[in-house]
Amino acid sequence: MKYYFAPMEGITLYPLRNTHRRMFGDCIDKYYTPFLTAHHNLHFKKREKKDAMPENIDTQAFSDYAHQIVPQIMANKAETFTWAAKEMAALGYKEVNLNLGCPAATVTNSHKGSGLLQDTDYLDHLLDGIFTQLQSENLDISLKTRLGFSGESKAEDLMKIYARYPVKELTIHARVREDFYKGEPRLSAFDTAVQIYRENGGKADICYNGNAEAVDAGLKALRCYSDISAIMLGRGLLSNPALARELDGGPKLTAVELKEYLSILYAGYETYIPEERNVIFKLLEHWAFLDHHFENSEKYIKAIRKARSKGEYAAAVNNIFSSCKFI
Ligand SMILES: Cc1cc2nc3c(=O)[nH]c(=O)nc-3n(C[C@H](O)[C@H](O)[C@H](O)COP(=O)(O)O)c2cc1C
Repeated sequence: MKYYFAPMEGITLYPLRNTHRRMFGDCIDKYYTPFLTAHHNLHFKKREKKDAMPENIDTQAFSDYAHQIVPQIMANKAETFTWAAKEMAALGYKEVNLNLGCPAATVTNSHKGSGLLQDTDYLDHLLDGIFTQLQSENLDISLKTRLGFSGESKAEDLMKIYARYPVKELTIHARVREDFYKGEPRLSAFDTAVQIYRENGGKADICYNGNAEAVDAGLKALRCYSDISAIMLGRGLLSNPALARELDGGPKLTAVELKEYLSILYAGYETYIPEERNVIFKLLEHWAFLDHHFENSEKYIKAIRKARSKGEYAAAVNNIFSSCKFI
């Protein structure tokens, strides 16, 4: 089984990708960038483009970044997607991914992300444009979708549409838009969707996404399990950066590893974010996923959250590692 690091806006930026790859990357086959929006006037936000620039890639860790990192694009028109895809190809990337899953209202209201799942005729037209316009490019196009917008009833139509195009890989987040990121993944609907996709001639590799660490056993019971070639891990990797290694039967994350990981991550963010306070805020986003590793950690976590300088932050982190049992 292959494992991918899911795109996560504001989180899976290059400092995290470089750090993770260096320490735990052996078991991760692909890292996705958070979405880059392809604007109608054919430009990227500077900050978003910076995240995909090859000069920010640790090329020792990513010896073949063109295949190991996949830029994800948010677009609702074939022309803007095609423009963005060619920009990424010019930077050396071999695959781009279309975001068909983002549930944020600001995104769906502008008919992007999972908003595109509401109007299947338009989605079909969009994919037709994309695959026609990019057919002569040496570039794989993958999709990251959900099973529908307000319910599962459109999953069948969606799968039939996807099956019509030479999609390289189809990642299905086993939820609908209305689920956002909550609740149990819809495993049975996922299973049915994959069957329908195949029955209709869909050839793409299938990647499962959605609380994979928690539903591991349930996933293996699915009829389509042998057809899943990859699992995309998101929040699970934020809670446990060694998750893919553990799912592969490897050793459990140690306190020493996590401490070193956080320290390299801090240094990585320092090159990306100019203000010390904002570097700390960025690290706090990670700590929000990590407290479960420390027994009776409340007051130590509080101290980390209160840190306002690099020194205070480092002292609070040292304290939690030396005072709490690591679990
Ligand atoms: C904070 C956050 C940001 C996300 N940003 C993106 C994104 O930029 N593109 C995308 O396709 N999915 C995004 N997702 C969804 C994840 O890629 C993934 O589909 C979701 O978290 C479910 O997987 P998990 O249960 O393994 O976390 C985001 C999720 C979270 C929690």
